[in-house]
Amino acid sequence: MIFGSKSAIGGDLAQILSRPKPSLLWLNMASMIPEEHAKRRFAQNPKDADFYQNPYAFYKRLHQVGGPVFWEDYGFWCLCEFDAVNDCLRDARFARLPPVGFNQPTHPPHLKDFALVEQHSLLQLEPPKHTRIRKSVNQAFANRRVQEMQAEIEMLANQLIDQFESNGETDLLTSYAMPLPVIVIAKLLGVPTSECDNLLNWSHAMVRVYTMTQTVEEEQLANTAAAEFRQLLLSLIADKRKNPTHDLLSHMVQQTPDALSDDEIVSTAVLLLNAGHEATVHQLGNAVYTLLNLHWHTDWIDNDKQADQLIAEAMRFDAPLHLFTRYAQEAVDIYPGITIEPGEQIALLLGAANRDPNKFENADTFNPVRRDAANVSFGAGLHFCVGTPLAKLEMRIAINTLFKRLGNLSLKDKPQLKDSFHFHGLENLYVRW
Ligand code: HEM
Repeated sequence: MIFGSKSAIGGDLAQILSRPKPSLLWLNMASMIPEEHAKRRFAQNPKDADFYQNPYAFYKRLHQVGGPVFWEDYGFWCLCEFDAVNDCLRDARFARLPPVGFNQPTHPPHLKDFALVEQHSLLQLEPPKHTRIRKSVNQAFANRRVQEMQAEIEMLANQLIDQFESNGETDLLTSYAMPLPVIVIAKLLGVPTSECDNLLNWSHAMVRVYTMTQTVEEEQLANTAAAEFRQLLLSLIADKRKNPTHDLLSHMVQQTPDALSDDEIVSTAVLLLNAGHEATVHQLGNAVYTLLNLHWHTDWIDNDKQADQLIAEAMRFDAPLHLFTRYAQEAVDIYPGITIEPGEQIALLLGAANRDPNKFENADTFNPVRRDAANVSFGAGLHFCVGTPLAKLEMRIAINTLFKRLGNLSLKDKPQLKDSFHFHGLENLYVRW
């Protein structure tokens, strides 16, 4: 629980990870930790394969201490308990950008085109601009609108399964978890589905910038991807202005009093396509792996409520996005003797909060009928995931259809995990039936 107040907001992991290590500052901060908090200092290299393949062992150590912990490798305080993370996400004293008067995060010149498409991203904005842009997409993702897509998503899930190899084996990640969300979001936006291969390539190239492992060459590829992506969207926007249809791009170009500029529409569309689709791919992969690995069948599910419970528990148990940051807008006491100063970052460990033993009974056990069900996998507060109803519907349909069609589905091999802590997901998921 965050208590006390002096005064705080949020930055992106990309900025923390891509900035040169200001080790002097970090060491200073670490050395300022009072003696009674020495047990709260943890060293853990996020690039260590043993760690990112199973961050839950590390989280267990953090929970044994209780309260905030100082992660030395990043040089910031972290919240790992469910209530503390949930409260901080909703706390206006913390935001995604530093307060006025502090250096704002920037990209190097070779990421110029990337910066151009990211400049109006909802994740880089705070009110009032955030409110205006978010309003323009909220309606498209409202529960009622999204439910109208049910039949179309079911058809798509079935078509993808029809295309599986006839030898009874497939890599579910590439044949199912990846194409489904990208086709859905392309259709919703009004991007021709013939562009889906390009969308996937651009998205994969661009999200490398949000991991800790990218090279300069990868950043250059991300920049080229951003430039190409922008060109496609600008030509689609011009087209929708002349011939509007019923898709989200047409909706965004048509708005009058609060109309979005072309650059704002580009940033929003890129965020929806990249962030929305990557998280859904990995959540779907993680969820199917959990079910197969733990031999959970879905045949006990006979209504949407039970299916939603299963999805929610899969999201608690193994979420794809584990770490977000916020910048303090004013000094905030987060624990007796621990203050986050204005402009300083704090990390919210969503993956750890989802396994908080004080919140969940047998937190490390997957239990889709648990009575204490909850998770922070979609975030909370102002930046709460706008795609939540769509992601939940896609997951429910994808999992239901898969297990209904391929009753005796099982793992062929132990899957490989991606080489990144920030995107906790699978590289592949080989199954047989
Ligand atoms: C299971 C899949 C998904 C997960 C786990 C997920 C997770 C998240 C999280 C944790 C945030 C909050 C970030 C923060 O507070 O700093 C977020 C924001 C966002 N998500 Fe998702 N997401 C998923 C699917 C989607 C989908 C399908 C879309 C849209 C197609 C989407 C679009 C967005 C957008 C636009 C934001 C920014 C909202 C804002 O800043 O106001 N997400 N997501």
